[in-house]
Amino acid sequence: MKMQVLAATAALFSFAAQAQGQVNIICSVQAEWCNMIATVYARTTGTKVNISMKGSGEALAQLMAEKDNPKTDLWFGGTGDPHLQAAEQGLSIEYKSPSLAQLYPWAQQQAQQAGFKTVGIYSGPLGFGYNPELLAKKKLPVPRSWADLLKPEYKGDIQVANPGSSGTAYTMVATLVQLMGEEKAFDYLKRLHKNISQYTRSGTGPIKAVARGETAVSISFVHDGPGEKMNGFPVETVTPSEGTGAEIGSMSIIKGARNLDAAKKFYEWALTPAAQEMAAAAKQFQLPSNKNAKNDPRIPDFKRIKFINYDYAKYGASAERRRLIAKWEKEVNSLPR
Ligand code: F6P
Repeated sequence: MKMQVLAATAALFSFAAQAQGQVNIICSVQAEWCNMIATVYARTTGTKVNISMKGSGEALAQLMAEKDNPKTDLWFGGTGDPHLQAAEQGLSIEYKSPSLAQLYPWAQQQAQQAGFKTVGIYSGPLGFGYNPELLAKKKLPVPRSWADLLKPEYKGDIQVANPGSSGTAYTMVATLVQLMGEEKAFDYLKRLHKNISQYTRSGTGPIKAVARGETAVSISFVHDGPGEKMNGFPVETVTPSEGTGAEIGSMSIIKGARNLDAAKKFYEWALTPAAQEMAAAAKQFQLPSNKNAKNDPRIPDFKRIKFINYDYAKYGASAERRRLIAKWEKEVNSLPR
């Protein structure tokens, strides 16, 4: 009898010890989603979830800086290119989830090309956000193409993020290079520069500015529009007629993670349909990577968008990403407006 009590107590203690575990996450999606997954996961598992929110480029910079003494266990979300760069630089570890087969081919391909050091958790198209009220007030038409954004009437009315800190903006640079060829793309970016009022740190900054009437147009992921609209702001989105790119939002387990088991458990949970459906519950409308997740009707309809054949391996390679960002800094951002 006594032995049974002891065994039961020991089991309880080991559960408590497990429950007291923690996982340190860099979260590169919007705060509402980060907070929701942290709260739900902590409540349902007893694991403490420490979240640090960082844009995709900034997250990669932090992981590089803490390489020899990692403080992060898992990197959740953010555009896929810097996750591929992290994989190439040995900042993340190979992990093959038993749920891989449940994911769409684009999410599995993201994993395969990184030697399973990352995985796709969502996808979303790049496009423009606009404030219809502000456009009407300024008597400006809705921009429908990349070419439209160069028109002088939009001068000072367009915002986009800085590609160094933001994965959204890097997706724009890489998309234009693939669409036009590098020389023409940089020529385009230099002309676009004249119309830009501000390069923000975060990729979602510009569409928030559009929603709040601070700027008429943004270059943004179109899945970031509906949430602003649900909050009562006048914001619509459009994708450019010439074609556009899409991100494969990704997740990686960090090499040297101090809470490796906890990181793996969180990773598995994050790939489940129930966890992925939490995005829409937090007013985030990326397409979930698990085929069994229910799709909210506000998620952009990929079939109606003209996409380029985005080369994720090429534009997620360290040297290429670094080169294009440095070139943008030197040849575009340094120009007067
Ligand atoms: O959270 C919204 C979002 O658009 C994600 O879909 C994307 O991965 C992320 O922002 C990119 O943020 P940033 O451009 O700041 O790196």
